[in-house]
Amino acid sequence: MSNVVVVGLQWGDEGKGKIIDVLAEFADLVVRFQGGANAGHTIGIEGREPIITHLVPTGALRPGKQVVIGPGMVVDPAALIEEIDMLQGAGFLSEPGRLLVSDRAHMVMPYHKLLDRAREAAKGDAKIGTTLRGIGPCLEDKAARSGVRLADFLRPEKLAERIGPRLQEINAVLDMLGQQRLRLDDVLADVAGQAARLEPFAGDAGLLVRRQMARGRNILFEGAQGALLDIDHGTYPFVTSSNTLAAAACTSLGFGPRRIDCVVGVAKAYTTRVGAGPFPTEMEDDRGEMLRRRGGEFGATTGRPRRCGWLDLAALRHAVELNGVDSLCLTKLDVVGGVDRIQLCTGYRLQGEPLEGFPATVERLQQVEPEYEQVEGWPEDDSLGSAREFEALAAPARRYVQKVEAMLNVPVDMISVGPGRNDTILLNNPFRRS
Ligand code: IMP
Repeated sequence: MSNVVVVGLQWGDEGKGKIIDVLAEFADLVVRFQGGANAGHTIGIEGREPIITHLVPTGALRPGKQVVIGPGMVVDPAALIEEIDMLQGAGFLSEPGRLLVSDRAHMVMPYHKLLDRAREAAKGDAKIGTTLRGIGPCLEDKAARSGVRLADFLRPEKLAERIGPRLQEINAVLDMLGQQRLRLDDVLADVAGQAARLEPFAGDAGLLVRRQMARGRNILFEGAQGALLDIDHGTYPFVTSSNTLAAAACTSLGFGPRRIDCVVGVAKAYTTRVGAGPFPTEMEDDRGEMLRRRGGEFGATTGRPRRCGWLDLAALRHAVELNGVDSLCLTKLDVVGGVDRIQLCTGYRLQGEPLEGFPATVERLQQVEPEYEQVEGWPEDDSLGSAREFEALAAPARRYVQKVEAMLNVPVDMISVGPGRNDTILLNNPFRRS
């Protein structure tokens, strides 16, 4: 048996969806543990249109796998119903009982989305660039103990009591932000119908996961966003509102940290960021534009163009430490092809001195000077995309991978060379490592 956690090591969008889809073949259960519909996991199955999931774990695309939305997640009921309908319409998730949604997960209410939007608008140029999915306001309510959990949502007759007082506070804030007030009846209007749709999926997800662990099942934990967006360790305040690190799988589902057998860290062969915030290796020139175009770097959730830059090993080293990464997965290696000389950021300097660790403030991170090492690029051709073994990669591409491995001191066990399931070099299967 094995419990494998897959997490992003950058600012999200590392290609985790595809990697989780590949690894789901070896898992009995696929479990999401944090975030919500701010995530967008794109899976390319040969011979069909790519499928994007935001809430339902990627394992839904593999017949027979049980998929779980964990207690640490925030769930937008309308988005979840739409996604279930989309997946069922595409021929997935049709067996009853395949999806379990934790009755402890917090619900994203319409006022959370309204507040997210109103606050971002009020911030003007200082906005975070959130996905506007209501994630931050929902998690604020959770911490303030004013939230609505799925178990509460399923009892609409009790809900008015619970959210009435909170709505008064929210209306005061909406007034302040120059927005229209919300009426309790309007907020509750859709709840009964949504509750009836979601009830068959609701249950104790933590209990299921612990029981399945005890039975020796293979469990894959699907991370969302990335280490640099973590609320405690990321580039605060330009972060999401949850813990995005591997350890969050334990607190979300409720099991001990020693149960995790392998942490897989996913990093793109270059770096991207969507939304505002510091980005030391950003390339605001035609090379950045080339990566955006070749890599199709537009948000899967919001469609926004992603900012692009060179691979940042200083930031990755930090992310590897934060997660205790055992196994690395490098994605989109094919996208870097066609660049003569590649720059690799190997460390940061601050006021001329090498910097140990990762700066706590945006101001300090904006001041760092990345130290670059220039490495040889490889030709832009199809042979890289069709490589299924490490030896089939062009020699400079192999050296690039080996350099990353040596600088981070973690083995690269998977390499992705294209969007499809089969465009993957699996050197070492994380489920068979322990
Ligand atoms: P929020 O999670 O919608 O509150 O957005 C906060 C920050 O996290 C913004 O910079 C978003 O662009 C970023 N973010 C949230 N989810 C993702 C994701 O799945 N991929 C990449 N960036 C994300």
